[in-house]
Amino acid sequence: MSDFLSKQPYKGSRDFFPDEMRSRTWMFNTLRQVVERFGYEEVDAPLLEPLDLYKTKTSEEIVNQQIYSFTDRGDRKVAIRPEMTPTVSRMVAQKLRETPKPIRWYCIPNLWRYERPGKGRLREHWQLNVDLFAAVNETEADIEILEVAINILLSFRAKPGLFKLYLNHRELLNAVFESMLKIEKEKWPTIARILDKKEKIDADYFEKMLSEAGLDQDGIKTLNEYFDTGISFIEKNKAILGEELVNNFLKVLSILNDLGYSELYEYNASVIRGFDYYTGLIFEIFDLHPDNRRSLFGGGRYNNLIGYFGKESANAVGFGMGDVTLEDFLRSHGLYKEFTSKSEVLVANIDENLTTERFHLANILRNAGLNVEVALTGAKLGKQLQEAEKKNIDIVIIQGSEEVEKHSVTVKVMSSREQELVSTENLIEFIKGKL
Ligand code: HAM
Repeated sequence: MSDFLSKQPYKGSRDFFPDEMRSRTWMFNTLRQVVERFGYEEVDAPLLEPLDLYKTKTSEEIVNQQIYSFTDRGDRKVAIRPEMTPTVSRMVAQKLRETPKPIRWYCIPNLWRYERPGKGRLREHWQLNVDLFAAVNETEADIEILEVAINILLSFRAKPGLFKLYLNHRELLNAVFESMLKIEKEKWPTIARILDKKEKIDADYFEKMLSEAGLDQDGIKTLNEYFDTGISFIEKNKAILGEELVNNFLKVLSILNDLGYSELYEYNASVIRGFDYYTGLIFEIFDLHPDNRRSLFGGGRYNNLIGYFGKESANAVGFGMGDVTLEDFLRSHGLYKEFTSKSEVLVANIDENLTTERFHLANILRNAGLNVEVALTGAKLGKQLQEAEKKNIDIVIIQGSEEVEKHSVTVKVMSSREQELVSTENLIEFIKGKL
């Protein structure tokens, strides 16, 4: 055993070095730009919440297996947030009365889940949450949220065929359970969890699990038909499932078609969503790249959550989209961008006695809006120029005592190798002309 501490971050979390941080900032700024174009405002909240916030109405898997929790010094049970929806709902409940409706909020929190880390899955990820509350027309709110999600990927220049939006509806699923399969309500979550696994397990095992959960052969046959025939199963069984429910869902699909998104989405009966709070539309956006067939976005309508915080409730719909899966998506499809350092000017050090002059010069340029580094080294000028090149800094300013006497500096432009004596008076204009 070495005596040194580990250089690595905690398992399943990441350090962000400048190269990675520049790309992350670009990703987050693009997300902010798109959602703000739709009128969403940014909010934020603490990393810690009372554990009770997640105990009712979230996801059994998250609460029992994935939550990071501890008891604080005041004997309170505390959780590190594994998702943002309960927090955002708590915040809406606080401000529901005085906030103009509908309420359009977004945030990019870091979330912690004790998962087995692997491709696309980490223990800490950042998740864009976009949520729309208290809309008069829920169908229109659903459409808007889906449009925001689609537009995020389009704004990263993703083309149709690279991703697919899969839609389903929690109440439709419940109607299949209740009216067609006649399953008792207590068993719905168990059946839903089995359906959630359908894509990952083989048909025999799927049927075995359903039969163990209490479904007879007829029930299994109906469920298989539901999965295989999708939307036509729903249309055919409209009378049993509920005319209004089916018609409202079909209306969402038809408006998506009218808006030109028909290529981008599909009805998919196996979208279940693991959270108990969803009450209506549910959806996921999948990366179609063979290396990352997993969900980039997950969301849906959750009309009851806010009502847990007080007498007044509000309808809600939204989604979460993770930075890990987004980065994999962008990298795999050649859409990821890397950026160089933002420093534009280096003030070189060729005379140890001119510290004040160098710092002063740098401040003048910074005040003019330039990003300026001062060389804190006594290394040879050649070495300083090499460092500037490595960092992609195109302008190097050199000032020795001779230049100081002439109230001027030597400016070296790294890309063209030009070098010129410029008076300090004209320096800002000269540099701006070169950048
Ligand atoms: P979720 O499906 O758990 O939903 O997460 C949404 C997205 O976050 C996933 O599609 C994935 O991109 C990313 N994600 C989740 N867990 C991880 C992980 N361990 N590592 C990397 N990425 C991950 C929710 O959390 C809901 N609260 C979303 C929501 C907002 N529903 C309504 N509003």
